[in-house]
Amino acid sequence: MDVIIKKDYEEMSDYAAEVIAQAVRSKPDCVLGLATGSTPRGTYARLASKHKQGLDFSRVKTFNLDEYLGLEMELHKPYALDQSYARFMYEELFKHLNIRKENIHLPDGRPEDPGAFCAWYEEEIKKAGGIDLQLLGIGGDGHWAFNEPGSSLSSRTRVVDLSAQTIDDNYESFYKGSGIKKEKMPRRAITMGIGTILESRQLLIIASGEKKAAVVAKALQGPVTSEITASAIQLFRGNAAVVLDEPAAAKLKIC
Ligand code: PGA
Repeated sequence: MDVIIKKDYEEMSDYAAEVIAQAVRSKPDCVLGLATGSTPRGTYARLASKHKQGLDFSRVKTFNLDEYLGLEMELHKPYALDQSYARFMYEELFKHLNIRKENIHLPDGRPEDPGAFCAWYEEEIKKAGGIDLQLLGIGGDGHWAFNEPGSSLSSRTRVVDLSAQTIDDNYESFYKGSGIKKEKMPRRAITMGIGTILESRQLLIIASGEKKAAVVAKALQGPVTSEITASAIQLFRGNAAVVLDEPAAAKLKIC
């Protein structure tokens, strides 16, 4: 695992976007795993600029990590609801790229049969040849995607309950000001599993801000534990880059 420490959020985002751009340049039909959250916003804005300057996404396939379950979105209009991760991805990234609609894969927030949907999603990843590069943030509770504390490190795509901390964090980042009360926030989600994520060929983990410093140190240098599912990075045998800004790196021990 390479740990890259950048001065601030802007430089972290520059670096992360360049890693993704290089993956696309070297394999124009690559399969990208994508994440939501406040951290990747800068990375996505830079990818949009790179596309304007000629970076071609027409053959790229994407799979997103997760989605809230049971959002009251209009069926067939998944972008209609402000707080869906589908809408976030559309607004922050997809609408700025020349990516083909049929190459975008998002967990369905309202599947008729959640179990069958999760199995289908895993199968689609396999059919695409697996994920070449997976982008990930780290949650305040140490999660990767919505693999909350206690999730098995060999878990697959499935329905999960959100932790109280994730509900608080996401309320602050995405719901405050929306008019939706915290009690009305979704309590469940569909997420790729840690086992699914670890099958990616390359990982790119980003974290920013002093709020993340303690959990970043635990994930990278503490025991590997299902209580901090991002600690699974230590089990990953492929090429992994962890890109941090200085505040997020502040609690790492030199080793
Ligand atoms: P954040 O979320 O980018 O909003 O901090 C990270 C995550 O939950 O993975």
